[in-house]
Amino acid sequence: MYQVPRGTSDILPEEQAYWRYVEQKVVNICQLYGYERLDSPVFEDTGLFTRSVGQGTDIVEKEMYTFTDKGGNKLTLRPEGTAPVCRAYLEHGMPNLPQPVKLYYYFIPVFRYERPQAGRYRQHYQFGFEAIGEDDPALDAEVIDMAWQFFLSLGLRHLSLQLNSIGCRQCRPIHLNALKDHYARHTAKLCADCKVRLERNPLRLLDCKKSSCQVVANSAPRSTDYLCPQCGAHFSRLKKYLDLLEIPFTLNHRLVRGLDYYTRTVFEIQPRGAGAQGTLGGGGRYDDLIEELGGKPTPAIGLAAGIERMVLNLKKQAIPVPPLPRPRVFIAHLGNEARDEAIKLASRLRRAGTGIIMATGQRSLKAQLRQANTAATRHAVIIGEQEVKTGTVILRDMANAQQKTVIPADLPGLLG
Ligand code: HAM
Repeated sequence: MYQVPRGTSDILPEEQAYWRYVEQKVVNICQLYGYERLDSPVFEDTGLFTRSVGQGTDIVEKEMYTFTDKGGNKLTLRPEGTAPVCRAYLEHGMPNLPQPVKLYYYFIPVFRYERPQAGRYRQHYQFGFEAIGEDDPALDAEVIDMAWQFFLSLGLRHLSLQLNSIGCRQCRPIHLNALKDHYARHTAKLCADCKVRLERNPLRLLDCKKSSCQVVANSAPRSTDYLCPQCGAHFSRLKKYLDLLEIPFTLNHRLVRGLDYYTRTVFEIQPRGAGAQGTLGGGGRYDDLIEELGGKPTPAIGLAAGIERMVLNLKKQAIPVPPLPRPRVFIAHLGNEARDEAIKLASRLRRAGTGIIMATGQRSLKAQLRQANTAATRHAVIIGEQEVKTGTVILRDMANAQQKTVIPADLPGLLG
């Protein structure tokens, strides 16, 4: 028998209440902060991602689902949502709108060929939002506040906000040089991947999960010590605003994120004690990306968060989610004429907005009521030969098995 491809999963009916709960909180928070929804295609030109996410990243080097279509176009299933939003911003003339333009996406499938484990999949779903066209650190604070309030609105607790600034085109190279010097003195302790990173993408050295590399990373030069005056002032103001907003944060000089487009502010929100593997959401500034994609220099900032990880943490923290609405009425029938009446009645009630589960097949009344029990409806409406003759139906309260004969016209009021 076929099974889902490794690293993917079905979202079964019993899981859906969690997903709809998250979805509703997403829509609420986006309305509250003035974001509009943008949907982009599942695949894009491969170049969009190699250009933005970066050649030396794990995503581009090892994880993209890339294919050539029948027309010879090189396409990639999106490995993240920010570059497509920037592409759409440029393609649809949004630089001409009042800035910043605030857009969000939700429940987009994202594809990364990773080693599957708990909370890490080859197809996962994301919610994210992007504010494009403004470099004021007050916007960084607002974006972080929005992310923080979103996770709190889900009911999640014991969260930690990790924060760093990795500088800009001017000051980052100076930090990178210091970083390379530091790592060059410790090459013997580095894993094979880090030896390659030292050559190709030194910032990513700080992110390595291997314990011997972490020792080297802990004593590495910190980006915040190398910020130019503008980046330094930007970061100071952001921290001041976060204090004003009473959002607690932890400075983490090893937080660099897995995509190359970041500048200045980077941040992640994690369940306390979970570490980077369990990160619920992450984001930051990408002030050079729009220009890199062919637009004018345009600062921007955003966040994305994984839905599966939210659901995992909702369950772990035993946060109750509201059940999904289900039909509260079951219609049972006995005999051909009764079935005709039942079909008409079900249709009338549904058109008036009452959810109905209709018995199908030719089962005994007992079997039909068992089905109503399993469906946990509040009422069963029973139509037999006698009811057809008298133009009535039997209304049964499923909780206490009390039955009474009523006329169908009275049902809407009685079903409540
Ligand atoms: P990211 O950190 O790569 O950022 O992904 C965002 C979130 O998606 C992660 O924090 C995690 O919750 C979830 N996630 C990532 N990979 C997986 C996976 N393999 N399985 C399950 N969940 C996963 C971005 O994608 C950036 N575009 C975020 C951003 C938006 N930066 C600025 N704006």
